[in-house]
Amino acid sequence: MNNIYLDYAATTPVDERVTAAMQPYFTQVFGNPSSLHRFGQQAESALEKSRRVLAGFLGAKPSEIIFTSCGSESDNLAIKGAAFAARQQSRANHLLISPIEHPAVLNTANQLADLHGFDLSFLPVDKYGRVSPAEVQKNLREDTFLVSVMDANNEIGTINPIAEIGGICRERGIYLHTDAVQSGAHSPLDVNSLNVDLLSLGAHKFYGPKGVGALYIRSGTDLSPMLTGGSQEFGQRAATENVPLIAGMAAAFELVQVEHDQRTNHILPLRDYLIKQILTKIPSSQLTGHPEERLVNHASFVFEGVDGNLLISILDGTGFACSSGSACKTGDPEPSSVLTHLGYSPSWALGSLRVTLGKDTTAEDIDSFLNVLPGCIHQVRELKS
Ligand SMILES: Cc1ncc(COP(=O)(O)O)c(C=O)c1O
Repeated sequence: MNNIYLDYAATTPVDERVTAAMQPYFTQVFGNPSSLHRFGQQAESALEKSRRVLAGFLGAKPSEIIFTSCGSESDNLAIKGAAFAARQQSRANHLLISPIEHPAVLNTANQLADLHGFDLSFLPVDKYGRVSPAEVQKNLREDTFLVSVMDANNEIGTINPIAEIGGICRERGIYLHTDAVQSGAHSPLDVNSLNVDLLSLGAHKFYGPKGVGALYIRSGTDLSPMLTGGSQEFGQRAATENVPLIAGMAAAFELVQVEHDQRTNHILPLRDYLIKQILTKIPSSQLTGHPEERLVNHASFVFEGVDGNLLISILDGTGFACSSGSACKTGDPEPSSVLTHLGYSPSWALGSLRVTLGKDTTAEDIDSFLNVLPGCIHQVRELKS
């Protein structure tokens, strides 16, 4: 049977070179980076080297990189940290986000509104899920302290015009946070050309380990720490740093940059072929997200009259791992809020399919997938009628 993984937006396998880079820090160089003795100093040197690697590729200073435990934590620190600092310093109370952010941003912003009285408003998005810089300009207020717009959307792959949005925020002296967790694997990210003050990353999306992330914090950006305690990570995040995972994140991020062109040249034609074939072969199908401004490995669709969760199970049964945006709540599927937001009716939105490719996906994998998908969709439609 096939055993083909096409869900690289969910997570990626750790690259063997990354595993090798992490290995010494579990057993040999195991000191606490805050200890003064040589064991501690060795660990600290590995930690600072990793920080320099990330900073170098992001166009940042090492002191602007904070290691966290995941992309979600980076989002939380950026948003809550900015909110509580703003409240303390300037009394600014307004937070502006895109309505189709990942739950790590959406639920964090909602919690700030519900529990702490912050004023939250949502930017409009077009049919591809893009935020327009003009809308940001229009929706900024005197008391806005932060705008948060994701670099690329996890469900539909659309990339936002972050640099332009950042230019507008900068003119008004308002912080811009971008969740770049999905783009970390693909786009060369430069915090200066992107005009961002805060940028979140998570290592497991780019062949690094799970349980480690990073937040870029432009120097001078006021954030209240969320994890209080010791003075690690420049006082922005207490806790003994997870040196093996941080070393793994740096090794994986370096490979993203070094192999960027090779990976893109491999993945992009496969993705384009996949999209074209699916839209041609499958009746009542549509691409979701932007046709061009999208992640290079990302193909997402809706099929009318299909139960997306059932389709995922049937595909899994034939040996293909993909995902669907609809959440299954006690057997009663609900369409993804992202697709609903983009205006898809439930009969389309419930039939969503996300196929995300990786650096090791082959043309044969895609052909085998294309051989089974039309039959699976037909089967799901038949079961429904
Ligand atoms: C856009 C985006 N933001 C944040 C996250 C959360 O990252 P993590 O799983 O590392 O907490 C994800 C993970 O799917 C994501 O796709």
